[in-house]
Amino acid sequence: MAPQVVAPSSSFDWKKLAFDLYSTAGYVKYVWKPETGWGNAEWVEQPYINLHVGSVAIQYGGSVFEGLKAFRQEDGQVKIFRPQENASRLNLSAEALSMPELPEEKFLEAVHTVVARNLDLVPPFAPYGGAGSLYIRPTMIASGAELALVAPQEFVFFVYVTPLGSLYGSAGGKAPAVDSIIVEEYDRAAPKGTGTIKAGGNYGPVLKYQAAAKKAGYPITLHLDSKTRTCIDEFSTSNFMAIKKASSPDATPTLVYPKSESILKSVTAKSLMDIARSLGWNVEHRPIPFQEVIDGGLEEVLACGTAAAITPIRSITYQDANGQQQKVSIGDGQNAGPHTLKLLEMLTGIQAGNKEDPSAWLWPA
Ligand code: COI
Repeated sequence: MAPQVVAPSSSFDWKKLAFDLYSTAGYVKYVWKPETGWGNAEWVEQPYINLHVGSVAIQYGGSVFEGLKAFRQEDGQVKIFRPQENASRLNLSAEALSMPELPEEKFLEAVHTVVARNLDLVPPFAPYGGAGSLYIRPTMIASGAELALVAPQEFVFFVYVTPLGSLYGSAGGKAPAVDSIIVEEYDRAAPKGTGTIKAGGNYGPVLKYQAAAKKAGYPITLHLDSKTRTCIDEFSTSNFMAIKKASSPDATPTLVYPKSESILKSVTAKSLMDIARSLGWNVEHRPIPFQEVIDGGLEEVLACGTAAAITPIRSITYQDANGQQQKVSIGDGQNAGPHTLKLLEMLTGIQAGNKEDPSAWLWPA
């Protein structure tokens, strides 16, 4: 039987789609208890949850989440990008925060249920998107109450969605380059800490630095490694990636991706490295000293992640040893470079279904 095709809602103003939360048909929820393990799906129409004031989620940060996207294809069908990857990363996060394992089939069932019930909120087909997807937020919380510092007796896994516009302004295959700044006053994640997982607690402390940076004209903030503050870790919202300065115009491009024990294991970064290899490019996964940026060793820089998609970076501002702000221009200091645009075309083309999907990354909703 052909999958159901439900057209995008005609009452939604798709032209105004922003990076925001919109109301939906509801979300799906599962409760875990020691006696029963994970229970059955429960459909919840209102976007609220009832929690004990002493829940470990509220008091001790027991909250992990995922972000993935569903895309409308040209024939109206909806496909989800690499949900199995998010299922496995959620379990890494859950394990780190003493939460129960969630079977992959439960994760996929939940994602399928919530997308299928919100199909009219998947934005219209966008051949080379960036903007225009249904964002899916699987979340696991330690819902049980405990005063002691112990894992509780109840957990909730829920998945909600929202139609999503662009985080940093990319749309329709165009990706404006943005200015970034290094957060100097705060270290995002300690080595051997929670940096590799998607814990809510990795994001909360960054809000004030992000807001201040945005006010000063830098839409995106970058973090160096906490131990030595010499190597690049990642942006507050997304992973860091770069194209190495070529030795000659016809040299094979080299994609560089930071090796660090405190950055999120990004599904988008993993996909882009696979795309780069499929294009015959070199891929270097290694620590990236910030000095390499200062010395002009990277000719293109981009932020990548589910929400950020591919966001070209045109400058990085940092504080030098004398406490003076210095700005390093990337490429021409204005626009996305050709390799960034190639990666964008390939990734968004696969997601929209108009480029070959050799590794079956798209999953039917
Ligand atoms: C995502 O890319 O899915 C995220 O969770 C990033 C978020 C901080 C906006």
